[in-house]
Amino acid sequence: MISEAEYSKFVPSVATNLGIDLNSYKPQQMIRRLDGYTKRKGMSLADLGKLIGTDKGEALQLRDFMTINVSEFFRDKHQFELLQKKALPELLSQRSRLKVWSAGASHGGEAYTLAIMLSEMTRGKPHDILGSDLDKTILKRAADGGPYSAADVRAVPAPLLKKHFKAVDDSYYVSDEIKRGVRFKEQNLLKGMFPSDLDLILCRNVVIYFSDDAKDILNKAFHKALKPGGWLFIGGTETLHKADELGFERVESSLYRKTAASARLERAA
Ligand SMILES: C[S@@+](CC[C@H](N)C(=O)[O-])C[C@H]1O[C@@H](n2cnc3c(N)ncnc32)[C@H](O)[C@@H]1O
Repeated sequence: MISEAEYSKFVPSVATNLGIDLNSYKPQQMIRRLDGYTKRKGMSLADLGKLIGTDKGEALQLRDFMTINVSEFFRDKHQFELLQKKALPELLSQRSRLKVWSAGASHGGEAYTLAIMLSEMTRGKPHDILGSDLDKTILKRAADGGPYSAADVRAVPAPLLKKHFKAVDDSYYVSDEIKRGVRFKEQNLLKGMFPSDLDLILCRNVVIYFSDDAKDILNKAFHKALKPGGWLFIGGTETLHKADELGFERVESSLYRKTAASARLERAA
């Protein structure tokens, strides 16, 4: 197994060559993953650190491996149903055009799921939906609206699949209307500026490898980025620790609402 000392020496190379600050990720999990990766490659971690400085292809391959892009449309369908029943009607009763951010959007399935749900609920009216990820390769597929495999779309209800997707050979693409409704951009959640005045943030299955400190900073930034009464939708296996302290109330297991009291405190600060 890779030692902590070897890992510490590797961290700066990843920051320089991949733009990922491993100090914000849990070291044990990263070490375990990198151990498998270097064994498959038959090289030491020190050699991998040097290689990614000279070989762009290897750097991209490692970035793809470390970012773990697994996703699908209507992932954890039950939770999307709760979003549709609880959060969206409440938000749509307050304003007709919603501002939504899928943070860690991977191939775009999550952001497009939202676009499909909102298109159905508001009869094709426009909304502002942004998908972001730090992985450029996967973002290209998101922006192209596909191709998606049968596995990627397996949870899409049949009538919605027929209505909002085009089948090309063995793959699927979202319809032009749905594609036009979502914009994608590269963004590292651990750096840079966040969008503001959001009604809904989806950040699901992204922070599982983040350190507790990084999660805490991110959740505070999410709270700030939401409008009063805005919602945060997290992954099915995740919990928002110290939700009250952050200024969120838990409505369902994966759904949190920014409290009015915390919004007032924010305004007064
Ligand atoms: C497992 S996928 C989750 C995709 C989607 N949210 C879902 O639940 O199906 C995790 C995504 O988070 C992205 N990611 C990981 N660390 C990130 C960071 N620091 N900033 C932005 N995106 C990140 C990865 O590139 C990957 O596409």
